[in-house]
Amino acid sequence: MLARNLRAAPAARQCLRQLSRPTFAQQQFQCKGYATAEGDKVAKFKGQKGSDGKYTVTLIEGDGIGPEIAQSVKDIYSAANVPIKWEPVDVTPTLKDGKTVIPDEAIDSVTRNYVALKGPLATPVGKGHVSLNLTLRRTFNLFANVRPCKSIAGYKTPYDNVNTVLIRENTEGEYSGIEHVVVDGVVQSIKLITREASERVLRFAFQYAQDVGKPKVRVVHKATIMKMSDGLFLNLARDIAKEYPNVEFDAEMLDNTCLKMVTDPIPYNDKVLVMPNLYGDILSDLCAGLIGGLGLTPSGNIGDECSIFEAVHGSAPDIAGKGLANPTALLLSSIMMLQHMGLTQNASSIEQAIFKTLAEGKALTGDLGGKAKTHEYADAIISNLKA
Ligand SMILES: NC(=O)c1ccc[n+]([C@@H]2O[C@H](COP(=O)([O-])OP(=O)(O)OC[C@H]3O[C@@H](n4cnc5c(N)ncnc54)[C@H](O)[C@@H]3O)[C@@H](O)[C@H]2O)c1
Repeated sequence: MLARNLRAAPAARQCLRQLSRPTFAQQQFQCKGYATAEGDKVAKFKGQKGSDGKYTVTLIEGDGIGPEIAQSVKDIYSAANVPIKWEPVDVTPTLKDGKTVIPDEAIDSVTRNYVALKGPLATPVGKGHVSLNLTLRRTFNLFANVRPCKSIAGYKTPYDNVNTVLIRENTEGEYSGIEHVVVDGVVQSIKLITREASERVLRFAFQYAQDVGKPKVRVVHKATIMKMSDGLFLNLARDIAKEYPNVEFDAEMLDNTCLKMVTDPIPYNDKVLVMPNLYGDILSDLCAGLIGGLGLTPSGNIGDECSIFEAVHGSAPDIAGKGLANPTALLLSSIMMLQHMGLTQNASSIEQAIFKTLAEGKALTGDLGGKAKTHEYADAIISNLKA
């Protein structure tokens, strides 16, 4: 049963096999490390421009409002002359040997282009295929989920001037999918933490802090209770911090972080927070609440080979096809994508046009208290690009 339910990465599975032997504590620290040569960047973008001077980017428009908000991104990118060619793919799942899989054409496209922008994908509740979002993360081993949490000037929320970043380990921890029945009425769920996956996300967090000019990295943990699993994560962070002498490092207990964040988030502005999977899932939504909710929240799922950028909201079936959707979260996710690809000038000009449009408040969509249709909001951003 345990083996059947095991969905972790191959290296994690190897680690688990070692961990289940009698010398548990000793073996834990013998799992093969994630070797990164000094100076090498974790998850560096490997794409190259084509002969037309453009990068090709896979576009998964998604379900519900996905095609409408994707159209806004395409219109704004075209107006801003971003050197990108979109390659739309269909990710409608198929069943292969009883498992939900993504069509080969979609996998080939993301693998070839190293980068994708993704709209929301609907997940059937209690029946049908497993979450495609999870399938994509597993298929491409997208090990870090990056969620910037930044107030938008001019859009009033409970807190002003919030500007922190959360990085969540995206492949294991409590979401390893290793659950089994011990005896009737007793189930066990395994929180898998491996040196390999932890080192990878921790190194990425230090690198990300340097790249975006944040002076501090903070690990959020519960190593007081989960002494071995969170303990491994925390100890590795202490070791890796020595490789980054210019970045300050400290650690904080998850409960303490939650309390302090909702009391006053500003002291977190100089920090990148990095944490195991479940803590990141919860804390990143808490942070989205500080700055106006999921409709304005971008994210990136980062892998060694490729990365997928996506809005964190869902497919909004209640407003799909009505031209009411707010494309800001997908647009801001695409800006993270441009930064990842090194197209920083394009990123900054589109970002400024978005912030200007939101601050003007003349063409806002219904969720932000305005009356504009999706395309009218996009047109206002295009006007501000040219202003
Ligand atoms: N990353 C993803 O692809 C993702 C994330 C969350 C949910 N989902 C899926 O989306 C479907 C719907 O989920 P849900 O209803 O719980 O959450 P949802 O985010 O789709 O909608 C919640 C509420 O927010 C509104 N909303 C969401 N995005 C908006 C936008 N861009 N502009 C204006 N209003 C917006 C909706 O109209 C709705 O009232 C489900 O199938 C779920 O599994 C996908």
